[in-house]
Amino acid sequence: MIKVTFGRFQSKLFATKANHMALIEKLKVGIAGFGVVGKRRRQCIEQHPRLEVVGLADRAFGENHTAKDGVRNYVDFHQLIEKEKLDVLFVCLTNDVAAEATSLGLQSGAHVFCEKPPSRNLEELAQVGEISKRHPRLKLKYGFNHRYHDSVRDAMAIIEKGSLGKLINLRGVYGKSQMITFGAGDWRTKRAIAGGGILMDQGIHMVDMMRLFGGEFTEIHSCVSNSFWQHDVEDNAYALMRTQSGIVAMLHSSATLWRHRFQLEMALSRGSIELSGILSGSKSYGEETITIAYVGKNDQGVPREQTTRYNQDNSWSDEVNEFADAILFDRPIVHGTFAEAQKTLELVTQIYKADPRWREATGRAVPFAWSVDETAPLDA
Ligand SMILES: NC(=O)c1ccc[n+]([C@@H]2O[C@H](COP(=O)([O-])OP(=O)(O)OC[C@H]3O[C@@H](n4cnc5c(N)ncnc54)[C@H](O)[C@@H]3O)[C@@H](O)[C@H]2O)c1
Repeated sequence: MIKVTFGRFQSKLFATKANHMALIEKLKVGIAGFGVVGKRRRQCIEQHPRLEVVGLADRAFGENHTAKDGVRNYVDFHQLIEKEKLDVLFVCLTNDVAAEATSLGLQSGAHVFCEKPPSRNLEELAQVGEISKRHPRLKLKYGFNHRYHDSVRDAMAIIEKGSLGKLINLRGVYGKSQMITFGAGDWRTKRAIAGGGILMDQGIHMVDMMRLFGGEFTEIHSCVSNSFWQHDVEDNAYALMRTQSGIVAMLHSSATLWRHRFQLEMALSRGSIELSGILSGSKSYGEETITIAYVGKNDQGVPREQTTRYNQDNSWSDEVNEFADAILFDRPIVHGTFAEAQKTLELVTQIYKADPRWREATGRAVPFAWSVDETAPLDA
């Protein structure tokens, strides 16, 4: 028996000739989109003993060339996919081309990892789903890295174990100081490229975690607004949602918090869990902590509680390692399956549609900037 360790993941397998070969060869990896996240993923990929980056694509390269380290750099991601005969493609492009690149990657015979959101809308994603069905051997995983944060994993373990009883409700705030932060480009403010605003970009993680903890929400109410920044995407989304079993979630996704904030409070029948702060590259969301409070008799509303602070963000590399394990050992994708990504995008879409003003405004055939007049009466 051979024991293989990749990062924090361990795999035990019996050495047959076939998987012995699988242990030796490196998988050829291409990264489409070499911006902030493409660069971050490259670091994780290069730490993995069985993955090798052979090509990158980004229009910012200006021209095709081979870098000093031998990695081929393409301006056009189509060329990366066509020329490199990749085993694995990472899609870290802007949202407008995410679905196209994912589909082309699968059609070329590559396993594909695509960052969230999986596409600008459900229609684009359905096309990817059709192509994925035609390539059942190929792994397809979507990057919802928040599920790999230690605080989120620990919260999930408590809820699954049932030691704090049943989940009653969730209240989540995830937001940024402004719409465009850290000198990033402005594509996130453009509906044609991003498909949506702060909810589609950042709030989607909170939506995904609420689904992870609470299950599927079937009753949805919302207010969606672009009244402050007045881009053609939302700068605030407020949602109130309920599952069939009665779990209620309140969500606020915002680009007008004037600070960066991540907070998720969950009340259970025998205590509560509060996730506060999340480790990120910028460190601007505060320390990542989990606080667990235990309902006590006669505690006068001041329960016994315990806070754990995490000091490392392994989410990006753990996610990559799990994807590599799925390919190398033909394991199922755990988080970020196509079905999960589709359900999360469906819920984001339902939140947009639940606000009649937003539904009406986004349904307009005006492809340029507009803002929703939140004082105007709605037509009957
Ligand atoms: N999991 C997370 O927490 C997380 C965090 C940030 C971003 N993301 C996602 O990662 C993706 C990339 O985000 P980012 O922050 O790296 O953005 P970015 O703007 O830094 O990078 C995107 C890159 O794609 C390139 N690009 C866009 N269209 C192209 C095309 N047609 N051909 C070639 N190159 C093209 C751009 O030149 C740019 O360098 C987005 O989908 C975003 O939602 C995920």
